[in-house]
Amino acid sequence: MTATLDISTLDVSYGDSVQALSGISLMVPEGGFTVLLGANGAGKSTVLKAASGILPFENGRISRGTIRFFGEDIAGVPSHQLAQRGLLHVREGRHVFPAMTVEENLAAATFALSGRKRRASRDFDDVYAWFPQLKPRRTTPAGFLSGGEQQMLAIGRALVGAPRLLLVDEASLGLAPLVARDIFAILGRINRESGLAILVVEQNVTLALRHGSYGYVLENGAITLEGPTATLMDREAISSRYLGTAATERTP
Ligand SMILES: Nc1ncnc2c1ncn2[C@@H]1O[C@H](COP(=O)(O)OP(=O)(O)O)[C@@H](O)[C@H]1O
Ligand SMILES: [Mg+2]
Repeated sequence: MTATLDISTLDVSYGDSVQALSGISLMVPEGGFTVLLGANGAGKSTVLKAASGILPFENGRISRGTIRFFGEDIAGVPSHQLAQRGLLHVREGRHVFPAMTVEENLAAATFALSGRKRRASRDFDDVYAWFPQLKPRRTTPAGFLSGGEQQMLAIGRALVGAPRLLLVDEASLGLAPLVARDIFAILGRINRESGLAILVVEQNVTLALRHGSYGYVLENGAITLEGPTATLMDREAISSRYLGTAATERTP
């Protein structure tokens, strides 16, 4: 079976001096929910940026390795083309247009679509079905939404783009524990019920391991541990080396 995303021995550097990733290999199988864990600065966002083609905007470059999306080498393909091909990246920080309403934000996301799946109508019922909370907020400017709702909208914008792979950077960052849990539960449902492959970068290890199916731990730009999430949850290695202690349990 062809993997949805297959990254092999990838090196990435920024500018002339910062080597952010060294020889990392990582896979998202078809229909998989893969989580990428690691401390601040480990290189998690860089993995997503490399996959979605936005490294050049940050003076970053791939110096070795391959990135395949459904078997095709996509290293160097511009981000807008990847988006049109269904590789959608929800960047860290909930990028929505604050002055535009929820519905206008969703509509704006459709402009990025090619003929592949351009929407004839502004029918976003599928997004509202995943995130019912957004529906009564349809005509509210996104800037007035709560942090959780903005994250839902950011994910909703990617869903409008008919994704075949969803990359989510720090889905829960800055959100209250219950809200973070909701977001992950919905990502899990989207994955199970629609079969959408998802790669999530997350610092809340407990939450990520609970909902993801396979996990990687990134340390200083290298993968140091990987496995099915169920086994990673049991690993003393994770709790002592990366999780710190059980005190990082942040979900009720
Ligand atoms: N645009 C950039 N220019 C230079 N260095 C960067 C840039 N983005 C990230 N880095 C560096 O690359 C390393 C990995 O960063 P990043 O991928 O953002 O880590 P994480 O998402 O795990 O916090 C860090 O040392 C960071 O300082
Ligand atoms: Mg990051």
